[in-house]
Amino acid sequence: MVGMHWQRWLHLLVVVHAASAQRAEPTACHEDVCHCDSFTRLICHCNEHVKEMTLRPEGSYRVPETATAIIIENCERVIFLTETARNLLLLRSVQLRNNSNVIISERALTWSPFSIDNEMYPGLRIEISNSTVYEIAPHAIQGRVNDIVIRDSNILSLRPFAFSSLTGVKNIELTNNIFHNVEIQAFKKFTTSNFLLRGGTAKMLPSRFLSDVEVTDFFRIEGVTIDLLSSLTFLVTLPKRVLIENNIIDTLNADSFHITSRGPVTFRNNTVKTVGKGAFLGFTVDREIVASMGRQELLIDNNTMTTVTPTSLSYNHSTLTLRIDGLNLNLTCTCELAEAWREMLNAQGGIINCWYELEGHYMSIPTFIDSRCGALKQTFWIFVVVGIVLVVVIAGIVIFFIVRRENEKKKKLQIVMPDGKTYRETELHIVVERAELLTTNL
Ligand SMILES: *[C@@H]1O[C@H](CO)[C@@H](O)[C@H](O)[C@H]1NC(C)=O
Ligand SMILES: *[C@@H]1O[C@H](CO)[C@@H](O)[C@H](O)[C@H]1NC(C)=O
Ligand SMILES: *[C@@H]1O[C@H](CO)[C@@H](O)[C@H](O)[C@H]1NC(C)=O
Ligand SMILES: *[C@@H]1O[C@H](CO)[C@@H](O)[C@H](O)[C@H]1NC(C)=O
Ligand SMILES: *[C@@H]1O[C@H](CO)[C@@H](O)[C@H](O)[C@H]1NC(C)=O
Ligand SMILES: *[C@@H]1O[C@H](CO)[C@@H](O)[C@H](O)[C@H]1NC(C)=O
Repeated sequence: MVGMHWQRWLHLLVVVHAASAQRAEPTACHEDVCHCDSFTRLICHCNEHVKEMTLRPEGSYRVPETATAIIIENCERVIFLTETARNLLLLRSVQLRNNSNVIISERALTWSPFSIDNEMYPGLRIEISNSTVYEIAPHAIQGRVNDIVIRDSNILSLRPFAFSSLTGVKNIELTNNIFHNVEIQAFKKFTTSNFLLRGGTAKMLPSRFLSDVEVTDFFRIEGVTIDLLSSLTFLVTLPKRVLIENNIIDTLNADSFHITSRGPVTFRNNTVKTVGKGAFLGFTVDREIVASMGRQELLIDNNTMTTVTPTSLSYNHSTLTLRIDGLNLNLTCTCELAEAWREMLNAQGGIINCWYELEGHYMSIPTFIDSRCGALKQTFWIFVVVGIVLVVVIAGIVIFFIVRRENEKKKKLQIVMPDGKTYRETELHIVVERAELLTTNL
């Protein structure tokens, strides 16, 4: 009861204080492009005359303590100064839309107004859409946050610890963004129910992009085009479900996903050009889950990989079972390739295909082995080749001897006539005829 009274008093105090301050000094509500509505939301729409907004915690044109939301649109530049949110007890939402240059300074959105950090108390929703985020500084966003949503935005720089020490987070959704420069540990040490990275592109996601992040429910990466996933990009524990789907990844390094899950892991319909050795070794399952529910499934379904060896698919046998429901090796089928994968297939089962150049489609490795690499077929082809070689050699020898004999015959048949000239075989017939004639006369 006493607590309730105190809270009410506090609220009243804040409102009264704000009202008196308002008379003394203008707040952001008095900016040309802003107004504060009946819900005490601060709403600013920049225009051709006012193109910049600076959100500050004190002094003239500060954000009023009564603000329940900060909504900023269409600005060329938006800057949140340090500590902007600290004393905004009633703040619930920050929305930035269609701004071309957003800077969130260190601790600008640090918000923990309640002495006990508890999910029962309200938290912030931070939403950035269709904007260019110039920088989210170290420790910019901290404290009691429900949701972080960034979508359709260009992210030029996420500094280390940009999102850190958060409590009670439900959702982090990063949708259709272009990540230019992300630094290590951008998301550092907190718990969220869900983490979603969907659509958009990233040149490189560094080591520890997510560092010591507990995702208690659903960890999902979907439809993203990524040049390089470094080792230990996602250091995550606890998800009940891990889904990595429809991504195009150029290089997937060993241990990029260092995820200790509490449920199955699905890696589906991804195109990965280079798969490092042990790329899947980082997936493991929480010990208690293995003890109570047994090993969980690591499903590799309908993926295409180009530079890949069987060791790329090593996995943690003690906590996971592997099921390969479809893996297209973007490599021309050869018996050596098939041989390299046969052992894995024998031990593991599953559907692994190679590229059958002759007919221009993928063919399952066992089918290829049966039609092309069977022991019998191989010896048959050896017989054919040896046979052809033998025939050619014998023919060569025969021709050689025939030619030699012919030459010798010619030499013998050359005759020297009395006129001192040598005559060829063609002329010889005449000579022979005459000789016969002479004989008859005798
Ligand atoms: C987005 O902001 C620009 C100015 O930066 C403005 O010209 C444009 O009309 C805005 N678009 C929408 C849909 O509000
Ligand atoms: C998104 O931003 C671009 C560039 O600032 C603008 O042209 C477009 O109208 C914006 N769209 C929305 C829905 O705000
Ligand atoms: C598979 O992923 C590709 C992108 O690599 C996407 O275009 C396609 O729609 C996905 N297929 C399904 C069935 O989701
Ligand atoms: C399987 O992968 C191919 C090639 O990426 C894609 O076109 C197809 O839609 C995928 N099918 C499913 C069911 O994901
Ligand atoms: C498999 O996972 C368990 C539990 O996380 C871990 O202790 C073990 O070292 C892992 N094994 C390998 C080969 O990575
Ligand atoms: C398959 O490999 C070829 C050549 O190595 C490459 O050009 C092509 O993009 C690859 N296809 C896929 C789906 O990775």
